[in-house]
Amino acid sequence: MKETSFSITYSSLVFLVSVLLLLPLSTAEDYPGQAFIECLIFRTNASVTNVTYTPNNASYEPIYEFSLRNPRFNNSDRLKPQVIVTPVSESQVQAVVRCAQQNHLRIRTRSGGHDFEGLSYSSTYDIPFVLLDMINLRNVSVNATARTATIGAGATLGEVYYWIYRASGTLAFPAGVWSTVGATGLICGGGYGVLRRKYGFAADNVLNVRIVDVYGNILDRESMGEDLFWALRGGSCSSFGVVLSWELNLVEVPQTVAIFNIFRTLEQNATQMILPFQTVARNLPYEVDLRVRISTILSNTSARPDNKTVQLTFTSVYLGPADELYRIVNTSLPEIGLLRSDVQDVTWIQAVMIGSFFPLFDEAPTPEDLLDRTFLADIPTKAKSDFVRAPISEQGINGLWDKLLEVEPGDTTVIFTPYGGVLDEYPESAIPFPNRNGTLYMVYMRVLWVGNTTQKLEWIRSLYEYLRPYVSSNPRRAYYNYNDLDLGLNNAIGPINYFNASRWGRSYFNNNFMRLVAVKTQVDPLNFFRHEQSIPPFSLAMFSDM
Ligand SMILES: Cc1cc2nc3c(=O)[nH]c(=O)nc-3n(C[C@H](O)[C@H](O)[C@H](O)COP(=O)(O)OP(=O)(O)OC[C@H]3O[C@@H](n4cnc5c(N)ncnc54)[C@H](O)[C@@H]3O)c2cc1C
Ligand SMILES: *[C@@H]1O[C@H](CO)[C@@H](O)[C@H](O)[C@H]1NC(C)=O
Ligand SMILES: *[C@@H]1O[C@H](CO)[C@@H](O)[C@H](O)[C@H]1NC(C)=O
Ligand SMILES: *[C@@H]1O[C@H](CO)[C@@H](O)[C@H](O)[C@H]1NC(C)=O
Ligand SMILES: *[C@@H]1O[C@H](CO)[C@@H](O)[C@H](O)[C@H]1NC(C)=O
Ligand SMILES: *[C@@H]1O[C@H](CO)[C@@H](O)[C@H](O)[C@H]1NC(C)=O
Ligand SMILES: *[C@@H]1O[C@H](CO)[C@@H](O)[C@H](O)[C@H]1NC(C)=O
Ligand SMILES: *[C@@H]1O[C@H](CO)[C@@H](O)[C@H](O)[C@H]1NC(C)=O
Ligand SMILES: *[C@@H]1O[C@H](CO)[C@@H](O)[C@H](O)[C@H]1NC(C)=O
Ligand SMILES: *[C@@H]1O[C@H](CO)[C@@H](O)[C@H](O)[C@H]1NC(C)=O
Ligand SMILES: *[C@@H]1O[C@H](CO)[C@@H](O)[C@H](O)[C@H]1NC(C)=O
Ligand SMILES: *[C@@H]1O[C@H](CO)[C@@H](O)[C@H](O)[C@H]1NC(C)=O
Ligand SMILES: *[C@@H]1O[C@H](CO)[C@@H](O)[C@H](O)[C@H]1NC(C)=O
Repeated sequence: MKETSFSITYSSLVFLVSVLLLLPLSTAEDYPGQAFIECLIFRTNASVTNVTYTPNNASYEPIYEFSLRNPRFNNSDRLKPQVIVTPVSESQVQAVVRCAQQNHLRIRTRSGGHDFEGLSYSSTYDIPFVLLDMINLRNVSVNATARTATIGAGATLGEVYYWIYRASGTLAFPAGVWSTVGATGLICGGGYGVLRRKYGFAADNVLNVRIVDVYGNILDRESMGEDLFWALRGGSCSSFGVVLSWELNLVEVPQTVAIFNIFRTLEQNATQMILPFQTVARNLPYEVDLRVRISTILSNTSARPDNKTVQLTFTSVYLGPADELYRIVNTSLPEIGLLRSDVQDVTWIQAVMIGSFFPLFDEAPTPEDLLDRTFLADIPTKAKSDFVRAPISEQGINGLWDKLLEVEPGDTTVIFTPYGGVLDEYPESAIPFPNRNGTLYMVYMRVLWVGNTTQKLEWIRSLYEYLRPYVSSNPRRAYYNYNDLDLGLNNAIGPINYFNASRWGRSYFNNNFMRLVAVKTQVDPLNFFRHEQSIPPFSLAMFSDM
């Protein structure tokens, strides 16, 4: 009895002691964020505490949602960060990288927050991570004489465009059309916009970059070497480190440019317009951007009992006067029936704002609206992309219309973005983005993520299947900036399954994928910068199926 009692007491004591000993440890395991924060405080002399948020801070959720740009991920389906840090200095970024590694936390880095799969702020893996939100590092400084701009990683396109406009009405950076998109994410996948046919991609116009590497060191172009510098210009920065800032080459645009935006439905012979468009638009002078946006709408002139039709919106920006744009399009693409009165002269910054749909959000938008990071409404979407190298036949186009007519008005947008121009002059290996010489146009397709989302997902996948015979193949290409987890996912832990990785890797980068793997092996051999579609390093085990 006594013995038993003693033994109980003894085991209770052992239990108590172990609890006392293990408590701090197991808490740290349950909440790796705590040890991480202690490390951060130590490494930054506590300067970081007022920019560090855990789920207990009231600001955690507002900060998380502020740059959550695809509402498809505004829910608890995915793992959210243990800790959010919004650094105000480069040394704080270094501390975050070092402390995350020491405490077995992964990192997601967010700039504009437009990632199509929400990977910059949420994880499909059940592995804790820190969100490094670059929003406070977004200074833009323009040197109009040198025709350069230095931008903090957190800057949006709107901020970049605004500060360039303030410095000069005839300078521009060749990037995308939606002002709240982050310049960094866009450059990290290539980045195209209305100037692509004249000046190439955003990534073609990068002069220098500063990053924090896996060891917590700051590197620039000279100290990182040309291989890593190449990889960062379109090959997914988040596989290689944290971008702090870019030095950009600015290009010249005229004081005024010409624009038009015209709508055509099936009943207005849209089919007879899109057929020549496929080859003509990419062969226009380099100064012409002519894209077409395709959507399902309701129309009182529809030939169908449900009143649905397909509408094409031809949108153009020309680096020259309206008379010339009219003459060029009237001669080259008379099928679209452009009128001189459709074309107007506007300043470059007005063209930028109209291209970014500002008139839909404000009757009288001003350039200052470019600074508003939430000016444009966020649209919940699932998207995919393709590249077309031979024109789609009339039968193929008619089948596309049938697919689009399956969904409700407003549910889908498909965009054909013609290439050609200077893009034909880039070899596949110039930057990691491979699809230029010989590409007719890129296809973007998206479905609105509301209502029955299972059905929406099935539909966008069926559209993608429908297009298979008409688009690039072997591998079927996709644009990394329109990332799509349907193409495959890295395994969460252990050596990466190379066959899975090369499925999406070759779709995005084709032959450049292998060079990206080589760069990754050199700069991050243990694969710290890892996510669902990050570039894997070589490893003997990566051919195994684990
Ligand atoms: C409405 C809309 C319009 C678009 N228009 C265009 C267009 O005209 N042209 C075009 O080319 N693309 C366009 N895109 C695609 C866009 O380029 C990509 O979504 C891009 O990744 C967004 O960058 P972000 O900084 O906003 O995104 P984020 O979600 O912040 O980041 C995207 C990716 O980059 C990584 N990343 C971000 N910051 C850093 C950093 N500092 N260091 C390392 N990695 C980082 C993230 O981890 C993530 O992998 C558009 C997207 C949307 C939603
Ligand atoms: C922290 O403070 C110490 C002493 O003041 C100083 O030597 C060190 O450089 C500081 N470190 C950082 C990261 O600011
Ligand atoms: C979050 O909460 C912690 C603990 O209360 C505090 O130290 C920190 O300063 C808070 N962060 C911010 C950004 O207010
Ligand atoms: C955090 O505090 C420092 C001073 O310690 C201050 O300079 C900085 O502006 C603060 N940052 C934020 C985001 O409040
Ligand atoms: C996210 O959803 C909540 C409600 O569920 C809403 O209040 C908030 O505005 C949404 N935020 C974004 C960025 O979509
Ligand atoms: C920030 O940008 C402005 C101009 O836009 C410039 O005057 C200033 O020097 C920059 N600040 C830093 C810290 O780079
Ligand atoms: C801008 O660039 C010019 C030409 O390269 C250079 O002489 C000048 O010093 C730069 N200005 C600033 C503020 O850096
Ligand atoms: C469409 O094309 C047909 C045949 O070419 C032509 O008869 C008809 O007038 C055109 N319709 C419109 C609205 O242009
Ligand atoms: C069709 O709609 C347009 C505008 O949407 C309108 O101007 C026109 O009168 C309508 N026509 C008919 C026949 O209802
Ligand atoms: C189609 O439009 C006509 C006239 O514009 C209207 O009378 C009819 O109800 C509409 N049909 C459907 C299915 O919406
Ligand atoms: C527009 O094209 C038509 C023939 O399609 C031609 O008769 C007319 O002169 C052209 N207008 C201009 C301004 O080039
Ligand atoms: C573009 O493709 C054409 C035809 O295949 C080829 O002759 C040319 O050399 C290529 N140009 C570049 C820059 O790769
Ligand atoms: C949603 O769509 C799926 C697939 O089309 C269907 O099986 C399911 O019944 C739909 N759910 C609802 C609630 O309508």
